[in-house]
Amino acid sequence: MNNRNIIITGFMGVGKTLIGQALAKEMGMSFVDTDDLIKKKCGKNIRTIFSTHGERYFRNLEQQMCCNVSGESGAVISTGGGTLIFKKNKDFFNQSTIFCLTAPIQVIRKRLLNDFYNNKTRPLMEMFEELWHERKPLYDEIFHQIENYNCSVKLVVEKMIELYILDTRFKSINKDIFCPVVIKNNILEEITYFLKWISLFDRKICIITHPELNCLNSIQYKLKNVLIINIPSGEKSKSLTMVNYIYKKLLANNFTRNDALIAFGGGVVGDVTGFVAGTFLRGINLVHVPTSLLAMIDSSIGGKSGINLSKGKNLIGVFKKPAGILIDPNLLQTLPKEEKRSGLAEAVKHAIIGDPILFHHLEHGLINFSWIIDRATEVKIKIVKEDFLEKNERVFLNFGHTFGHAIEIASNYEIKHGEAISIGMVYAARYASIKGICDTELVARIENLLHKLQLPTKLPCEITIKDLRHFIKHDKKRFGSMFYIIVPKKIGEVRKVEFDLGVFDQ
Ligand SMILES: NC(=O)c1ccc[n+]([C@@H]2O[C@H](COP(=O)([O-])OP(=O)(O)OC[C@H]3O[C@@H](n4cnc5c(N)ncnc54)[C@H](O)[C@@H]3O)[C@@H](O)[C@H]2O)c1
Repeated sequence: MNNRNIIITGFMGVGKTLIGQALAKEMGMSFVDTDDLIKKKCGKNIRTIFSTHGERYFRNLEQQMCCNVSGESGAVISTGGGTLIFKKNKDFFNQSTIFCLTAPIQVIRKRLLNDFYNNKTRPLMEMFEELWHERKPLYDEIFHQIENYNCSVKLVVEKMIELYILDTRFKSINKDIFCPVVIKNNILEEITYFLKWISLFDRKICIITHPELNCLNSIQYKLKNVLIINIPSGEKSKSLTMVNYIYKKLLANNFTRNDALIAFGGGVVGDVTGFVAGTFLRGINLVHVPTSLLAMIDSSIGGKSGINLSKGKNLIGVFKKPAGILIDPNLLQTLPKEEKRSGLAEAVKHAIIGDPILFHHLEHGLINFSWIIDRATEVKIKIVKEDFLEKNERVFLNFGHTFGHAIEIASNYEIKHGEAISIGMVYAARYASIKGICDTELVARIENLLHKLQLPTKLPCEITIKDLRHFIKHDKKRFGSMFYIIVPKKIGEVRKVEFDLGVFDQ
């Protein structure tokens, strides 16, 4: 056992004190209640502190208490109902295991009424409904959600102990974005523990994959109650026909919203599974286990999915936040060389967007895949964390894609995604230099690196600029008649600029 503190939060009436005390007893840990500490310090109950000094005074005291108790070791700390909705307080506990206790609003209403009839009042109790709606989305952000109704204290405590132990296993290697991302060699050995950690172990699981991915064997036997749906390899699988086929299989096997899909494959499997997960029954749990380099560093991260229409690539899609992403770099051992090259194009893209050190390493031929995955995912995670719905800087990740997507379609998907992005990045860089945004040396530097990685930098002779113009017109990165494009300014910095399609006719 370790000495990490356990923090218990949740709305008033979810049972933080009761469960906290029982958990502390079971774990042999001390129990601290931040509200009790504040009461002791002021010599008044919380309701009186609120009414005489106001909420702001109380919140300041509360913040002080959070700072003090975060220095404890091996304690179960129960916080006030509103404590963790403040980021500063949450930050004090970032090394701890945090549990958010939950119960339906009807159950809480009943408990609060009971308290009231027993003369136990709470601050802000009269604003209960309003606070519930205000705070619920903030509570929902807490990773470990523990239901505390309709089951015994013993069962709740047992579940919390199990998750506390799993936190020790996974927390230190979690990249901690909006969902757990764990990157480690042979991590698939631990898939059952991972599913327990993200509270999906006891659900029905469907793995969507390609039949030729033998590495699936390594996890298949570890999971019980699993349905495997094989789809053919290749971009053609990103179709509504395939999506429909999967819906039918899930329905035939009685999948519900509580069950989970695992995307086990490259970007194609990830996009199809992500789309199904976002739409089937209006959303079913999704876990990504990417097996190609491209999927590990890019497509599995960020919750975006795309299905192709005849007019263009990824023209329909949804944002679907995965419940977890499990990346095992060892899976790359079987990935063909040309697929590794294709994945490296996205690593170059991430480097140009936000990691000059990664670019420098790639330029010097330092190809350690685990290290590249670590650096490249960092760039993507940072952007996605800030702008999940692509309202602002997430568009930077489309660097190389305006041309890239057009090239993929013009080649009837004969050109791999990464290869198309490689050519697309060169064209975007050239456009930037024509417009005076970057110098020609930068274009040459990007072109040289891609060339060194044996990635294409020129359009194949069967595709013309006219073809590109035609397909770019259907690209989704456009506002009305206006197009934009992401271009490099220097290594580590890109920007969004208006795109004048006529330039390449000159
Ligand atoms: N949703 C997003 O954010 C996003 C981002 C980038 C790319 N994408 C999409 O990703 C797709 C490209 O992904 P991709 O390059 O992974 O292609 P892919 O999924 O087609 O995989 C490439 C090939 O490698 C094989 N493969 C995968 N893992 C393997 C392994 N471990 N061992 C042996 N073979 C393996 C696959 O069977 C396939 O034949 C494109 O459709 C692109 O649009 C999506």
